[in-house]
Amino acid sequence: MSKDIYQERYTSHQKRKASSLTSNYGKSKFKIYSEKEKKTLNEIMTNRSSQRIFNGESIDINPILEAIEKAPSSCDRKGVYVYIIENRHDKEILSGLLVGGVGWCHRADKILLIVANKKAYKSPAEKDFMHYLDAGVIIQTVYLSAEVNNIGCCFVNPNIREENKQFFNERFLDEDEVFCGALILGKYEKKH
Ligand SMILES: Cc1cc2nc3c(=O)[nH]c(=O)nc-3n(C[C@H](O)[C@H](O)[C@H](O)COP(=O)(O)O)c2cc1C
Repeated sequence: MSKDIYQERYTSHQKRKASSLTSNYGKSKFKIYSEKEKKTLNEIMTNRSSQRIFNGESIDINPILEAIEKAPSSCDRKGVYVYIIENRHDKEILSGLLVGGVGWCHRADKILLIVANKKAYKSPAEKDFMHYLDAGVIIQTVYLSAEVNNIGCCFVNPNIREENKQFFNERFLDEDEVFCGALILGKYEKKH
């Protein structure tokens, strides 16, 4: 039988939680943030906005991927991840398929497809919503990371017209995956 990485993460999360109740996994508990640091965070949250006009320059995706790694997830499963779409043809296809990004998202440098693995979400009580919550946490994490890295970002919801769903799924997803939306990322001259 193949290894179930999601179940392993879930089980080790439960063990850590039972032993410490903090689930901070060894991170510093005692960092006190200065007034300046608090102000900076507030500025980042205030200045963040959705960007839909891009200048064609390429971006460094690494800070964004590192931020995604740090996002919390339900029971630390990390059942949601991204596919990086950067070739022109696929971006143009997505600009036709993603209802919330029609006509503009292909101009971004990169499109991150946010995808959940169904195998990670086993509880019948949770499987209809938990992956969307995990995706939401990733979305805001990326918005904030994009803001501090001068990268334009806009989330596009997972709405795809019924008649296009099969084509989308076959081209972009594996069998056990659910689409949770897309992050559109690129450089800009001036914030939109
Ligand atoms: C759950 C969610 C779905 C969104 N879907 C889309 C979308 O499909 N297309 C789009 O252009 N913007 C989308 N947005 C961006 C919102 O329109 C935007 O966040 C909102 O208008 C506030 O503007 P701001 O992000 O610039 O502060 C979405 C945002 C959220 C949180």
